[in-house]
Amino acid sequence: MSYIFPIGGGKGGIGKTFIASNIGAIFAKQGKTVVLVDLDLGGSNLHTFFGINGVNTGLHNFLNKSQTNLSRVVESTGIPNLSIISSMNCSIEIPNLFHAQKLKIIKAIQNLPFDIVILDLGAGTNSNILDFFLCSDEGIFVVTPEPTSIENAFRFVQGAYFRRLKQLLKQHDFNAAIKEVNRTSDDIMVKSPDVIEKISEHDPEQGKKLQEKLAEFNFKFILNLLQKQNDEKLGEKIEKVCNRHFYSNFQFLGNIRYDPRVYDSILSKQIYVDKYAYTPTSTDLQNIVKTWQGVNTIESYPDQKAYEKI
Ligand SMILES: Nc1ncnc2c1ncn2[C@@H]1O[C@H](COP(=O)(O)OP(=O)(O)OP(=O)(O)O)[C@@H](O)[C@H]1O
Ligand SMILES: [Mg+2]
Repeated sequence: MSYIFPIGGGKGGIGKTFIASNIGAIFAKQGKTVVLVDLDLGGSNLHTFFGINGVNTGLHNFLNKSQTNLSRVVESTGIPNLSIISSMNCSIEIPNLFHAQKLKIIKAIQNLPFDIVILDLGAGTNSNILDFFLCSDEGIFVVTPEPTSIENAFRFVQGAYFRRLKQLLKQHDFNAAIKEVNRTSDDIMVKSPDVIEKISEHDPEQGKKLQEKLAEFNFKFILNLLQKQNDEKLGEKIEKVCNRHFYSNFQFLGNIRYDPRVYDSILSKQIYVDKYAYTPTSTDLQNIVKTWQGVNTIESYPDQKAYEKI
């Protein structure tokens, strides 16, 4: 099994793709096999961070069925161990993915033969984005210190959380609990946020089970574009508030400082952590990977030889 890192966030232009590409490069340098999947289906630009102008294959080949195996639409980024699945050649209609296509992509992603699979998601809270974010047991969201970004991050978290809750409620045993709660309550429909409390009141055992299921999902987050005037403790504060309000787990992975050279690295088509390896921002990115690895050990993908033959 691979580790899957979906990287999302409520707002555009907050550094999701910058972080996905650089974290991918750091893991690849450690010798892990990494694939970056561009799932920003309306605004694909992951390839640009690697100076890739055109690709021979990509997600479009998987969606138009000219290639049925997602691991065969992988391209090299030029960095050893680091590959990309680009969506740059997907049709302009691609953001309106059919439900079946989305499930097909998710299933294929879960079977990619790499140590680490990083998903670069688009901005916003549409259901496709949320389902990609929820496709493993952890998702990373990016937020910046701007109030607008914090506001959108909360919307994103709420969107993902309630979508997860709805998925759980659809499961047979929870359905029975909801029906029973509905029967005994004045409400015609028990609405999502308070359904946990209502189920717990009615059936403490089922309520506890639902809480445990929600706690299986881990929200991790990164505070990007931090500047001198910003509160360095903002991440810890957001973590506390979220852990108080939701039954899922929230972990702050760290700050990434603003550096004007990020722009320069994109212009020169060279990945930032390679071009500016010893800057405070590169140290921040390295520390985030270390923090993540502090609680997770990545096993090498067992079937790596099979991938190398492809
Ligand atoms: N730590 C940083 N320091 C300086 N500039 C940064 C930093 N992080 C990101 N940027 C800049 O912010 C811009 C947006 O970054 P990026 O494209 O990664 O955002 P995004 O969240 O993926 O946006 P979108 O939602 O449009 O895909 C980039 O031009 C990049 O130069
Ligand atoms: Mg992006």
